[in-house]
Amino acid sequence: MKIAIIGGGPAGLYSAILLRKQRPEAEITVYERNRADDTFGFGVVFSDATLDNFEKYDSPSYRRITQEFAYWDDIAVHFRGAVHRVGGNGFCGCSRRKLLLILQERARELGVTLMFQADIDDEARFADADLVVLADGINSRFRDKYVEHFEPEVDVRSNMFAWMGSTRPLDAFTFIFQETEWGPFIAHAYQYEVGRSTWIFETDPNTFVRAGLNGLSEKQSADRMAKIFGWFLEGHPLLTNRSMWRNFPMIRSKRWVKDNMVLLGDAKATAHFSIGSGTKLAMEDAIALADAMHRAPTVEAALQQYEEGRREEVEKTQHAADVSLVWFEHVDRFWDFDPVQFAFGVMTRAKAITYDNLMLRAPDFVAEVDKAFARQVQSRGLVVDAEKPLPPMFQPLRLREMTLANRAVVSPMCMYSAQDGVPGDFHLVHYGSRAIRGAGLIFTEMTCVSRDARITPGCTGLWNDAQEAAWRRIVDFVHANSAAKIGLQLGHAGRKGATKLMWDGMDRPLEQGGWDVLSASPIPYFPDSQVPREMDRAAMDAVKAAFVAAARRGERCGFDMLELHCAHGYLLASFISPLTNQRLDAYGGPLENRLRFPLEVFEALREVWPAHKPMSVRISATDWAEGGITGDDAVEIARAFAQAGVDLVDVSTGQTVRDAQPVYGRMFQTPFSEQVRNEARVATMCVGNITTSDQVNTILAAGRADLVALGRPHLVDPSFTLKAAAWYGAADVSCPPQYLPGKEQIFRNSVRDRQDLNDLKIKAKPKTRAELKSEATKPLAAE
Ligand SMILES: Cc1cc2nc3c(=O)[nH]c(=O)nc-3n(C[C@H](O)[C@H](O)[C@H](O)COP(=O)(O)OP(=O)(O)OC[C@H]3O[C@@H](n4cnc5c(N)ncnc54)[C@H](O)[C@@H]3O)c2cc1C
Ligand SMILES: Cc1cc2nc3c(=O)[nH]c(=O)nc-3n(C[C@H](O)[C@H](O)[C@H](O)COP(=O)(O)O)c2cc1C
Repeated sequence: MKIAIIGGGPAGLYSAILLRKQRPEAEITVYERNRADDTFGFGVVFSDATLDNFEKYDSPSYRRITQEFAYWDDIAVHFRGAVHRVGGNGFCGCSRRKLLLILQERARELGVTLMFQADIDDEARFADADLVVLADGINSRFRDKYVEHFEPEVDVRSNMFAWMGSTRPLDAFTFIFQETEWGPFIAHAYQYEVGRSTWIFETDPNTFVRAGLNGLSEKQSADRMAKIFGWFLEGHPLLTNRSMWRNFPMIRSKRWVKDNMVLLGDAKATAHFSIGSGTKLAMEDAIALADAMHRAPTVEAALQQYEEGRREEVEKTQHAADVSLVWFEHVDRFWDFDPVQFAFGVMTRAKAITYDNLMLRAPDFVAEVDKAFARQVQSRGLVVDAEKPLPPMFQPLRLREMTLANRAVVSPMCMYSAQDGVPGDFHLVHYGSRAIRGAGLIFTEMTCVSRDARITPGCTGLWNDAQEAAWRRIVDFVHANSAAKIGLQLGHAGRKGATKLMWDGMDRPLEQGGWDVLSASPIPYFPDSQVPREMDRAAMDAVKAAFVAAARRGERCGFDMLELHCAHGYLLASFISPLTNQRLDAYGGPLENRLRFPLEVFEALREVWPAHKPMSVRISATDWAEGGITGDDAVEIARAFAQAGVDLVDVSTGQTVRDAQPVYGRMFQTPFSEQVRNEARVATMCVGNITTSDQVNTILAAGRADLVALGRPHLVDPSFTLKAAAWYGAADVSCPPQYLPGKEQIFRNSVRDRQDLNDLKIKAKPKTRAELKSEATKPLAAE
């Protein structure tokens, strides 16, 4: 077999090693345009888990690599004069140059031919090769040559970065967030061998220009950075090596294989440097290719297996890298945070590290985070213990004169079970059972302001006395038997009205018994849905009056809070999104106009809703569709409602148009809540695939929301909050006297269960290489 590999970086060299081990008879040649020791850049990092993989696949190179490594366990975050350190991270650093020399040596030993100063511009010369590996890096010439086949998507990010080195020793992966007269600068730094550290500097494009970095030589920009970070460098110089300022390109390729050619490493996909996974991905690609070549009967089948088997893992890493880079791009959102909360945000930005996970690794750090959170609660006039504080989930929140005992919320959820809009026994049991099991706040399902405002025939309403009486019964039950507050969500279905019950076909038009529907513009939801009537001023007045009348009834029922539903493509949302609002009058066109009617309704409600009771608005912070609402629009929408007196923005997303492309995942809507909260400076509630109390605490502690709503988890587990309270020892959680024996038992057992689980986790966790190394070098105790 003949294999040609273009590019002698980590991906090219490691694939040569693994393929040659597998097929000692194969003729394998690596073509590298540079000289053998001509590498640029400074260090690379690997996690312990990646090193375990290297050990398994080629132990000689693994041993040589690890002999050269610098190990560290801590991440240190420097921000506004404070430094926070978190241990247990298990990372290793190595010089890129040494890594490549080790891989070259090992490849030669195995009989791979290495051709240096061989700049390949045409793969035709490899016509007789069985396999051509394209490992030619981020600017891959061959990916570009076959751009129509590989279909790469290149997302050039806004921040500028430069990669430098220093002799400054470091004993932790170090993030420094530095305020300057021009704006924030960030340094990502780590040691990779004795006396050498990597320094990646990052800043936003405006700060870059203001700092006069544009057009400076490498030396001049290194001098500028050395000045900014001089206090930390302690006289150590910054070293340059092709350290130009650049923008990071996030690259994703639709296809990785063409005939017998395959893209590997940065050539096929990149991952932002802030998660230090570029070299890991490149070398793990090589492992995946070698595995596929081992298993499959033909090269063609192997390449197909490689692409199919590897894609998900690469996309997962890229997703984590995306989340991380976005955090760094928007660091100004957190710039006025308490340093410990800021550091918690840095640690948890990419979702892999959470509150509970940090509790195990760095309990003192989490204790500090909790204290800072409790102090913020105190500063808003609430009496809480800030010395031995409860976790953020169990900290109270005040909105106007309503105080919630904790931050867990039952999200509004249609039950499709009302008769003529009247909530019945099912609703009493449903809402009642959630209220008596600990949640701080429960929302009603979208309750419709008139008969023709309903989504389905099973939706609840609040336009007549029977409905009012039925809701009052539920509210009274909640108030009499729990400490939970209950909020009323009012809405109008708009063009999504007159549709079937969820279990008969979500959003599908009723075949019989429907009613006329309204919307901002006459655009049907499905092609075969009813064409809605475009609202004229008279219709707007009627709808507004219906909202006001329902709010008055809501107040008579005793609801503690009122939420206006302006999300999910329903009537008011249909005005806000440009995808559903194509009006030419004062209610269409720019966002300001599109917001006019929803704001009018909100203001009318605010006028009749008692001043001491809070109001929220639910928005879709993105339509997940081309030309639709984006996170930046959501900030403007939130600002407009905040000006009109909203106390909380309930940040949901999507459901505006059928062909939306939402990106689901754990906590997938939380980034929008974070953006709205920290840019519009308004309290937010986040929601969406949040399933554990650990996630709730992580979100709250990082300042990404003020309340956390859970929908589906509450459908199956009304005791979500009570169980979490037992887990975290939040003994004050409300519980009806009838249930106290159960509460006492779960609280008692939880202490033990938690201890057992933590012990198990600690025992199961292998020692990091840094821990092993420090144990091995500890002097033996004198006998
Ligand atoms: C600022 C920054 C910091 C980073 N920090 C880290 C980190 O801490 N940890 C980490 O793991 N990764 C890090 N990376 C990523 C890492 O450098 C790359 O992801 C990794 O090197 C990719 O390996 P590769 O083999 O795919 O590509 P490369 O290492 O780029 O290798 C490609 C090789 O192909 C050669 N080549 C290109 N075209 C041709 C041609 N036509 N003919 C012959 N040869 C050719 C090039 O000379 C090069 O040697 C960082 C990247 C950047 C930009
Ligand atoms: C059955 C069901 C009904 C829902 N009804 C409503 C509703 O009436 N009003 C609303 O704003 N959101 C409604 N939603 C959305 C939820 O409030 C929530 O935002 C969504 O389920 C995502 O959260 P989760 O992942 O915790 O379930 C509904 C969701 C479900 C599953």
